[in-house]
Amino acid sequence: MIVIENAEDMCRNTIGKPRVLVPTMGALHSGHGRLISHARSLAGPSGMLIVSIFVNPTQFGPDEDFEAYPRSPGEDQSLCVAAGTDILFQPTVEEMYDEEASGSHYTAADSGLITTLCGPGRPGHFDGVCTVVEKLFRMMKPDIAVFGKKDYQQLAVISKMTRDLKLPVRIIGAETVREEDGLAMSSRNRYLNPQQRCQAPAIYKALQHIKEHGAMEASARIMSAHEIITKEAPLGKISYLQIVDRQTMREIKTIDRPALAAAAVHFGKARLIDNVEIGPIPQDNE
Ligand code: PAF
Repeated sequence: MIVIENAEDMCRNTIGKPRVLVPTMGALHSGHGRLISHARSLAGPSGMLIVSIFVNPTQFGPDEDFEAYPRSPGEDQSLCVAAGTDILFQPTVEEMYDEEASGSHYTAADSGLITTLCGPGRPGHFDGVCTVVEKLFRMMKPDIAVFGKKDYQQLAVISKMTRDLKLPVRIIGAETVREEDGLAMSSRNRYLNPQQRCQAPAIYKALQHIKEHGAMEASARIMSAHEIITKEAPLGKISYLQIVDRQTMREIKTIDRPALAAAAVHFGKARLIDNVEIGPIPQDNE
């Protein structure tokens, strides 16, 4: 595995087809490991697998955890090697945000997909994601890029941006990897104290309940999911629990089309998100 820190070296390195990119912010866990191994299989033996690690400041709000965001460069490198990475791209902030460089003016609002879920509670977050992902795509020219479905709205926004800007990248969504008790793997799980960790699986339990509930009305399903979290995770503070149309990310009242049930719950400083798909699963998946 080669480690590259600068965009010019990255651009020069054009060997290997297809080029498959897995953008991350590091603090890698076995969920990332699964994602990277999947990307390896998409690249095949002659393809190039690139993993980027960059804690992107522009996607964190002023009261969010940018400084405290977990960083574990040594372990990350070992995991990348074990999962078959060819290039690890680890740029500095200066490298990614050169003041001279002018970017495109794509804003997440252009996607029309951020009026629900994480959009209202994290103003500017998806703009930061779009900016950095577009830069990564332009620098690395991947044929394929893989993103986890745990950040479903992010995946939807990036897919839309890619289509809107006609970027020649195929976006693949990889299934969420879970702990044995159902908790979605996340770099932020390491913020949880033992009591919070015990209660956090209630998020997935509530989402599964929404999926399996027979009622057509979204409100009935949401109400009983709320009860599960309130009862089983009293340390959790629900930021949102919504059912949206998977295509438009708009809230729906009746479950009569492919939908997504999604939640964000705070446990102390850990803001955990998760979701489940309801109805037919889209094709471009793991
Ligand atoms: O999902 C993440 O880790 C980040 O939002 C991403 C896509 C790497 C952009 O910084």
